[in-house]
Amino acid sequence: MQRLRIDLIAAARPNFMKVAPLFHALHRQPWCRLRLVHTGQHYDANMSEAFFRDLGLPSPDLHLGVGSGSHAAQTAGVMVAYEGACNADRPDLIVVVGDVNSTIACALVGSKLWIQVAHLEAGLRSRDRRMPEEINRLVTDTVADILWTPSPDADENLAAEGVAADKVTRVGNIMIDSYELMRDRIQASGERRRLGLEERKYGVVTLHRPSNVDSPEPLAALVRHLTAIAAKLPLVFPVHPRTRKNLEGFGLWDGLAKAPGLQLVEPLGYVDFMNLVCGARLVITDSGGVQEETTYLGIPCLTLRTTTERPITTIEGSNRLVTAAELVRATDDILAGRSTHGRKPDLWDGHTAERVVADIRKRLLRAAIAEDEPVTVEAGARQAAGHA
Ligand code: UD1
Ligand code: UDP
Repeated sequence: MQRLRIDLIAAARPNFMKVAPLFHALHRQPWCRLRLVHTGQHYDANMSEAFFRDLGLPSPDLHLGVGSGSHAAQTAGVMVAYEGACNADRPDLIVVVGDVNSTIACALVGSKLWIQVAHLEAGLRSRDRRMPEEINRLVTDTVADILWTPSPDADENLAAEGVAADKVTRVGNIMIDSYELMRDRIQASGERRRLGLEERKYGVVTLHRPSNVDSPEPLAALVRHLTAIAAKLPLVFPVHPRTRKNLEGFGLWDGLAKAPGLQLVEPLGYVDFMNLVCGARLVITDSGGVQEETTYLGIPCLTLRTTTERPITTIEGSNRLVTAAELVRATDDILAGRSTHGRKPDLWDGHTAERVVADIRKRLLRAAIAEDEPVTVEAGARQAAGHA
């Protein structure tokens, strides 16, 4: 049987929970030959391996080992390595997720080799081009052949940019599939207990955006505000490696580590981290994914950013954008009961991977194939346009 060859690209922490549900759904399809590719953008055990273990992913079929570097060095490193992999064993479809440097790199490689590219989590826009992720989103969506979106605002953004409607399918939020897959293990994890935290009597903090952590003054201000909040509400802060490096480099680590009520811990695996989030009174973050998870769980979230590419989390969900100067007051509001728990957005339901698989079948496999018939890969949009 000729099978559809699909490369699924994983690179950094927020990718693994987007890739895992799709891996598990595609793995079961007899018409699919799946290759799991890890670019190596994140490489520490607690930023990568822990997630493969938690999410039941096998070791990658291909590890590109690219590692850290400047934007140009990292993006180019992934491009060179992945182009070689595609030339050695050409896939029919490349699936990229999210908005990290490896996303744009693999999308560019596929598009220049006339391999179809699908982007899962397409259409999100912060409209802030100082965010490296915004450039990655814009370019990836421009070159992708198939755009899978999580929410209506993403569809509207793509339409406003002139993307043909037939390239776009709204599939919902794949992160929620991971949560639902892991729900029982998350409840059973015991991480809260290990850290001595009582349900709804603590907050969770994550920070890693360059705008918050790469310069001494903004980071020092955040350290002051977190210290003040921890005096009223115990905080647990799993520290991202970028943030740790800067807290240490700017001489802020020791003071923060000694702040009463505040626990600094290593980055956590998905199951343990979500156990903390599920039991929290509130979350303070600048993460993209954590804004979505708290919205799904109805947990008040304060996002230390001036824009979000996920506006549905503030309109329908439990998220609020705040400046550092507003943080203490916004926390007091939540502790006084002045916050919304919001609602779950449509199609954030744990079935996104199924909708993606259905869309792949519809777009790339001849429509009326019986399961045991040889599968013919349909000429894709590029061939139809005379590219191949
Ligand atoms: C990357 C993504 C960002 C995403 C974040 C999720 C880009 C441009 N940025 O940011 O969109 O929100 O991941 O966590 O793609 N480091 C380690 N060990 C690791 C990985 C990184 O020590 O396993 C350190 C290195 O010093 C590195 C720094 O963290 O230079 C930053 O890593 P990098 O992948 O460049 O960016 P992130 O801040 O992790
Ligand atoms: N996360 C985790 N452990 C942590 C911090 C975050 O498992 O210590 C998970 C979180 O639940 C979410 C994802 O990592 O699913 C978000 O990744 P991150 O914040 O690094 O990146 P972003 O979403 O901002 O791109």
